[in-house]
Amino acid sequence: MQMTELAYINGVFCPIAEARVSIEDRGFQFGDSIYEVIPAYDGRSFLAEEHLLRLRQSAAGIELQYDFNAEPLAPIVEEGLRRSGIDDAMIYIQLTRGAAPRTHEFPKGTPPTVVITFKPLPKIPGRQRQEGVKLMTVRDDRWARCHVKATTLLPNVLAKNKALRSGYDDALFVTVDGEARECTSANLFVVTGRQITIPPRNESILRGVTQEFLLDCAGDLGFEAVEQPVYVDGLYGADEVFVTSTIIEVLGVASIDKKLIRDGGVGPVTRRFYEEFRARCRAESPDRKPATVQT
Ligand SMILES: Cc1ncc(COP(=O)(O)O)c(C=O)c1O
Repeated sequence: MQMTELAYINGVFCPIAEARVSIEDRGFQFGDSIYEVIPAYDGRSFLAEEHLLRLRQSAAGIELQYDFNAEPLAPIVEEGLRRSGIDDAMIYIQLTRGAAPRTHEFPKGTPPTVVITFKPLPKIPGRQRQEGVKLMTVRDDRWARCHVKATTLLPNVLAKNKALRSGYDDALFVTVDGEARECTSANLFVVTGRQITIPPRNESILRGVTQEFLLDCAGDLGFEAVEQPVYVDGLYGADEVFVTSTIIEVLGVASIDKKLIRDGGVGPVTRRFYEEFRARCRAESPDRKPATVQT
């Protein structure tokens, strides 16, 4: 079957180049919107239920009224995936508070805008996969509700570009107290012996779907997962550090601010988690059970 990049806007599928939203859309004017990115492997969406649940939580987090029961998004996601013919796909969903004359006040009776796009899953550069990524620390100057997957991502965009401009692969958001939170679009994992540590999943970070999935895997791989503050200084003494997201899956961290983690390569535990992820994301029905995390 031929692969076609596809868009869905408010009930209609069309080629991406023909998809349009109003200049009065609040997603455009205020960043008044939320989003999700769902992957598909071999033509099947992966962890779609988890992503759609987080979308509902994000909608609640910004008081966006969308009737997920009356107009479920899962069938549209599946239909679009089928129509696109893309095997390994990146499905982007954005819900905005709709198009209305510009005023800060929520518009009354305005339906949300629903945009979904279907594109091939981006390929990660081989160098990053094999040698690990180089992170640059930046001050976490984002808003106080990073657990909401909102499209207001300007601090993330600026931090990512500052890192790229300075010869790094990504930025790691760090508090004034030296606490490492997450990268511009990925969660942080620290490996010390048989322990996997992640920063507290509070309002300061996005609770990653990939993160949650890998925490499930951690128990099966014989690791104990712990959720506690992670300080940048402590990262240099870790056995391994890796970052995770829907797009990058699992990537080793070679260095932070040019100081090597371990010997600067991708460690065996990171490789093991990546292999486990790859095996499970292409399996017929991933074996899901809730993760146990100590806090
Ligand atoms: C800030 C941030 N943290 C973490 C993640 C990873 O989340 P997920 O694994 O659900 O893709 C993302 C993904 O976009 C993100 O934007």
